[in-house]
Amino acid sequence: MTEPNFRAVKGMQDLFGDSLAATARLEVAAARLFSRYGYREARPPLLEERALYVHSSGETSEIVEKQMFVVHREDADYALRPEGTPSVVRLYLEHNLHKQAPFQKFWYSGPMFRYERPQKARLRQFHQVGVELLGSGDPLHDAEVIALGARFFVEIGLAGVVIKLNSLGDAACRPAFREALLAFQQARAAELCDACRGRMDKNPLRFLDCKAPGCRALRADAPRLERCAACEAHFGEVRSLLDGAGVSYVLDPTLVRGLDYYTRTLFEYSYAGLGARDAVGGGGRYDGMVEEFGGPPTQAIGFALGVEATIIALEAAGRAAETAAPTLDLFVVLAGGATRAQAFGVVQACRDAGRATDFGEFGKSVKSQMRAADAAGARHVVVLGEQEFATGRCRLRAMATREEREIAVQDLGREAAPQRV
Ligand code: HAM
Repeated sequence: MTEPNFRAVKGMQDLFGDSLAATARLEVAAARLFSRYGYREARPPLLEERALYVHSSGETSEIVEKQMFVVHREDADYALRPEGTPSVVRLYLEHNLHKQAPFQKFWYSGPMFRYERPQKARLRQFHQVGVELLGSGDPLHDAEVIALGARFFVEIGLAGVVIKLNSLGDAACRPAFREALLAFQQARAAELCDACRGRMDKNPLRFLDCKAPGCRALRADAPRLERCAACEAHFGEVRSLLDGAGVSYVLDPTLVRGLDYYTRTLFEYSYAGLGARDAVGGGGRYDGMVEEFGGPPTQAIGFALGVEATIIALEAAGRAAETAAPTLDLFVVLAGGATRAQAFGVVQACRDAGRATDFGEFGKSVKSQMRAADAAGARHVVVLGEQEFATGRCRLRAMATREEREIAVQDLGREAAPQRV
């Protein structure tokens, strides 16, 4: 046994076979669905200036505090993107898209990078599919975005995803809540975990979703957000629009999520089988980010769904078949008498006709080529020899049932099964 000299970096995943097929299938499903709702793709680069994330996600967010892959160069510090939202906002402003239409809808998909302790469903390179809707504060768009994420899980066959919903207030009502929460934490500092104690001055809200048992227990006594009338009306309309559209959700006043940029509506898609970190996706409003980046006051909302978390949920739900690699439909075996060129001609004709077709080593015995057909997972096999080319008829064997039936060689391509991506 030889030991390879190199291995993938810890927490980074090689995608091929079934794992790649599952990822690609979810990405294709997302692209189709998001386009159906009027979203257009945006594909920003994977590397941005580090400052972009410090500005948007917030200095006290977990991402900025400890999860960024930073590249130091002479001219600037760069970071591999830990999420897509700040890039889409930058792109929107840099290309003056805010001047072109009252609001704009984007979707994106691709790898994100976070330096986390690798564990199940937590990787250092993972994939997200997401949407961002910029330029609208209309509760109709909150409802559209929340319903769209929920619809994604329905489309890919994952039942049982729960929407957790909350509203965090805005610049009118949040500051007082922040102060009250800070005063509470100062008074009870001895009971806080080290992380909450360390960051309470900068971001006392993070205490609300801290997983430490002491902080959890303390929360029962903590002050609650008193939403202002405008936030209350906004949240009420979002809820009634979701009710009217038949989208069910659970109100969760403890939901704050790890990013500092959220305002008003906040939501998470969770799947119970995943354990403590059960979120398959999440999002919310970030009505201040465009202005933070130097643009005009612009309200915005979006979500990102975790592809790997969704695949794990699909597997837990017994839907692993949904994530299997597409199989080969036909494997062509060459028997004595016929020429390689004749058999190759049939392979190419089948492929051109849309049938997923392959062949093995034409020089080897029929038995060995049949083994290769098995290993390739082909659904059908045809053996082509002198007789088949002389008569123009062949026997097509279904590998699962071993049943055979006779068809014309020239019809092999016509039986193309619909190809799954
Ligand atoms: P997020 O909650 O940080 O939100 O990430 C969304 C989803 O990505 C999570 O629910 C999880 O499924 C997945 N995810 C996050 N980190 C990892 C990881 N290390 N390994 C595997 N999966 C992971 C955002 O990223 C926001 N940009 C969402 C958003 C869009 N808000 C407004 N617009």
